[in-house]
Amino acid sequence: MAKEIEVKDGAKISHRMYKNRVALPDDVKKQVAEEMNKTLAASLDTYSQAKFAHWNVKGLNFYQLHLVFDTVAKVIFKQIDPIAERITQLGGVANGTVRQSAATSSIPSYNIEAVNGTEHLTALADSLGKYCGLMREVSSKIDDLGDKPSADFFNQLIVDAEEELYFLESHMEAGNVQ
Ligand SMILES: [Fe+2]
Repeated sequence: MAKEIEVKDGAKISHRMYKNRVALPDDVKKQVAEEMNKTLAASLDTYSQAKFAHWNVKGLNFYQLHLVFDTVAKVIFKQIDPIAERITQLGGVANGTVRQSAATSSIPSYNIEAVNGTEHLTALADSLGKYCGLMREVSSKIDDLGDKPSADFFNQLIVDAEEELYFLESHMEAGNVQ
């Protein structure tokens, strides 16, 4: 069994599992909790990146993008708590402090050189795209592990996050025809 406490980039990550009556094998619950913790870290990271865009965008379209980026932040923020609590429902520990998130998130670092609308749209769409991709990957892995309800739970979050991705991409150049 993996060590209960792991130190990653200076942050302590708990792999502890609590016994409960959820009708899945213990090893499945552990794997599902580990997968879901990846999305918890990514959700906190993506939320803070949307806020960075909301606060720092400049230029002619400032006000519209200021609002768009805040909507992205709100939608992703609403996903954090249910993801964390789904982890604890399965008996895991929700590793959701800012330090834990920074140490474990797979979302790329935000382009803090971004200034104008296009630069922020690109930076945030890149990160949100990774977030949506991770959510799909995790949903599919959880489905393969046999936890259909958790996979369904993620599928709804994916639809909401991909709607925000669509809003961002719709503000970018209109020439992305395949
Ligand atoms: Fe604000």
